[in-house]
Amino acid sequence: MSKVHLIEHPLIQHKMALIRDIETGPKEFRELVDETALLMAYEVTRDIALEEIEIETPMGVAKCQTIAGKKIGIIPILRAGLGMVNSMLELIPAAKVGHIGVYRDPKTLQPVEYYCKLPPDINERDLIVVDPMLATGGSAIAAIQFIKDRGGKNIKLMVLIAAPEGIQAVQEAHPDVDIFTGAIDERLDENGYIVPGLGDAGDRLFGTK
Ligand code: PRP
Ligand code: URA
Repeated sequence: MSKVHLIEHPLIQHKMALIRDIETGPKEFRELVDETALLMAYEVTRDIALEEIEIETPMGVAKCQTIAGKKIGIIPILRAGLGMVNSMLELIPAAKVGHIGVYRDPKTLQPVEYYCKLPPDINERDLIVVDPMLATGGSAIAAIQFIKDRGGKNIKLMVLIAAPEGIQAVQEAHPDVDIFTGAIDERLDENGYIVPGLGDAGDRLFGTK
């Protein structure tokens, strides 16, 4: 069974409070989502493989650790996952970005796939799927299956807020995929929204309604 990593760093908790606030408008919301993704990315990349190299300093030779050349892919689930990409690219500039378009049918709550463009070498990359919300889990499960069908193997899922129902569904569908989240909320409401959550992440990011 995959692991669930609840990332409770004080900076993340503070930003999460502002993100959830109904008074936070799209500009600030976008900035906060991106900043929080950056902070979470530190934790998600904690196990990246290192290799030892020798570096000549002005005073001698230092044994140093550098990233062992393993490649990383960041895969946002459109639309809302886009809000987490920019800061992660600043942290990991060599990462390639793949896009998967999935939206949730508001009546059936089933995921509808409409776009997929992934780096050709995803089978060689450590992949981080990003989306602010893990609600029923349908969108993440479908996106991860897309990636696996195209050869992706080492996959992590990074979300800002998860519902217990979504965590369980992803763990059952993809027991090899660890989940990283900034919060685990109480439950889903009758429309599949996370309570207390933050509302509709895509609408709050892009000012749509
Ligand atoms: C939201 C969110 C997730 C999905 C979570 O996207 O960004 O992708 O819902 O719900 P689930 O776990 O029940 O599938 P939405 O369908 O609103 O699409 P959008 O990002 O285009 O607004
Ligand atoms: N999608 C969102 O944007 N928010 C939720 O609470 C659930 C699904």
